[in-house]
Amino acid sequence: MSTRININGVVTAPEEARISVLDHGLMFGDSVYETLRTYSGRPFLFSRHFARLQRSADAIELQLPWPAARTREEIEKTLLTGECRVRLMITRGVGEPAADIETCTDPTVIIIVVPLVPLPERVYAQGVDVVISSVRRSSRLADIKTGSLIHQVLARREAKLKHAFEAILLTADEKLSDGITSNIYMVHGKKILTPGHNAGIVEGITRGVVLDLARERGLEVIDGFFEPRDIADADEMFLTSTTREVVPIARVDGKPVGPGKPGPVTQMLLEAYRAAIVRLSLED
Ligand code: PDD
Repeated sequence: MSTRININGVVTAPEEARISVLDHGLMFGDSVYETLRTYSGRPFLFSRHFARLQRSADAIELQLPWPAARTREEIEKTLLTGECRVRLMITRGVGEPAADIETCTDPTVIIIVVPLVPLPERVYAQGVDVVISSVRRSSRLADIKTGSLIHQVLARREAKLKHAFEAILLTADEKLSDGITSNIYMVHGKKILTPGHNAGIVEGITRGVVLDLARERGLEVIDGFFEPRDIADADEMFLTSTTREVVPIARVDGKPVGPGKPGPVTQMLLEAYRAAIVRLSLED
């Protein structure tokens, strides 16, 4: 079996998995989620993901039904053999077909586990093509992970049609925000420039780790507001996410970033990230 589902604590095969059509997660995208992965068969940085899930839930007045320990147990019980990608989703639950959260009493917990398909090593060796999306990141609630993801769906479609690996979304006032499902960075000499919290980014768990590693290695991290034209001055660019780690960006909208191949800072951070996995796996 290559996909396992856990709904409210019951593990089922995907064809048996059912939720109500009256679930507000389905009707209104009224839900929060996290994407995690395993290393050596253990959910990686679970506590950090749970803390972000809690922040997302607080922002939409959703009471998480299970504490961290139960949530972790349920994930572990659903894992497949081999490395997994885990989507943990909490929806508002069943209610009236009206956008009124007070009609819902019991959130639905859905855990979807699929085998993790790592990116081919050539992606890390050659870098990827990225485009600037025509989709704008709306600033309110952009920094939490909710199931209202139609912007991401449209941005992904646009990127796919342009044969791009990822798209960068801009804020309403045309500042760089983050990727569809990743954080982005520019390298200028010994500085790493990255859109900050106020640019409507999701503060990635991978971002936190990579920026700590960068500082430990003497790089200066500047997080703030940047514009698409700043890309022209970058020596290197990269993106990060849980499932993709540190991916060099070779071109943006067809124009090479620096020499158009992975640069030394990106490669150093990718190696540092991979080397840190064993130590970080000891974290809860
Ligand atoms: N996405 N920015 C956005 C908008 C994201 O959706 C994500 C994660 C990130 C990177 O966060 P992290 O390093 O914690 O994975 C940044 C996950 C992978 C997803 O949507 O499935």
